Amino acid sequence: MHLDALSGPLPLQPRHTESAVLPASCEIAVIGGGIIGLAIAWRLAKAGHEVVVIDPSPGQGASRVAGGMLGATAETGFAEASQVHHHQVSRQAWDPFLADLSRDLEKKIEYAAIGTLVVGLDSSDLRAVNHIAAFQAALGLDVERLDRGELDVKCPGLGRSVVSGWLLRDDGAIDNRAILVDLIDACGVNGVRFVSTQVDRISESRHGARELTTPIGDTSAKIVIVATGAARLPELPLASPSLVIPQVHPVAGTIVRLFGSATVPHLDYTVRSLVYGRPCYLVPRKGGSVVLGATSVERGYDLHIDAGGLFQLLEDGRKIFPALDDYAIEEIATGLRPTTDSHIPFVEEVDQGLIAALGHYRNGFLLAPATALRVADLVLSGKRDAR
Ligand code: GLY
Repeated sequence: MHLDALSGPLPLQPRHTESAVLPASCEIAVIGGGIIGLAIAWRLAKAGHEVVVIDPSPGQGASRVAGGMLGATAETGFAEASQVHHHQVSRQAWDPFLADLSRDLEKKIEYAAIGTLVVGLDSSDLRAVNHIAAFQAALGLDVERLDRGELDVKCPGLGRSVVSGWLLRDDGAIDNRAILVDLIDACGVNGVRFVSTQVDRISESRHGARELTTPIGDTSAKIVIVATGAARLPELPLASPSLVIPQVHPVAGTIVRLFGSATVPHLDYTVRSLVYGRPCYLVPRKGGSVVLGATSVERGYDLHIDAGGLFQLLEDGRKIFPALDDYAIEEIATGLRPTTDSHIPFVEEVDQGLIAALGHYRNGFLLAPATALRVADLVLSGKRDAR
């Protein structure tokens, strides 16, 4: 079954005006309105720039399907050791990011800052979980071992097989859908214009601007920011063959959103687990929902939901938290994580006035504040060079 057949409408409606008309020109065009594009657009608009976001459906795609984990510790595995500082910096940047957003929207916006529990199901899973926790501790990250009794105090209702685990105190979680709506709203408050179309081609820079070709016409922009997630890149004739944007591959991930009524047990923590070697997570949301994720499979732009993957995910989820059996399924959805070959994001000015912010893979939400700040720096330094 296809993603759209099972995904309901966006439950929260942002207050922005979308247009099907491109301006003849603009200062900055951000191509892509996922978490990365929106964070960049908002940050640049707040700095006084004129920004247009071009996306057929902002706030959708992989960002809408995400777990929203701010897993600076959990997502620092052996392959990500070089990213530990960057993960920490962006995790810390969430506080001022949300303070600014709260001011713009005149309401308190918070993330869940209680920490994440990491557990393993069988003895092999537990050895793997302990091994990575020791590595994270050696990197200076805050991990604390909890025995089953301590886990029960923090998080009653874990599956019987779970014997011990770890508390990752610094990891948080943000409601991905709420923050996408808030960012779209805050973009609107700061004058960002949204145009619902896709960009097919970006021209070379001429007289300090680039032409963008879209199905509804052309526009020109002094600065173009490519934040297209896992979508196919627009055609990009770069001035120099040495200036390249890395390949971005889609990695499909299916999640299940479930709802637990007031009478069933709830999780207070994000719980991540290995289940016979398969990673699995449960991220609780305010109001009784939980996001169970996620499969991970490279098969191109295929958004189908496999019965086998879904069956396994539900089985794994109930092994960690058996009360899931009494939850109602709200939604099943697949998103495409965008990754580079190295799994490390690429945020660079690749040619004058052309910035790529791509390949955030499993960590779009964690890294959005740092990426937005980095792009704002690139815009500032590029402007200085051009003067
Ligand atoms: N960050 C969670 C996932 O990619 O599934």
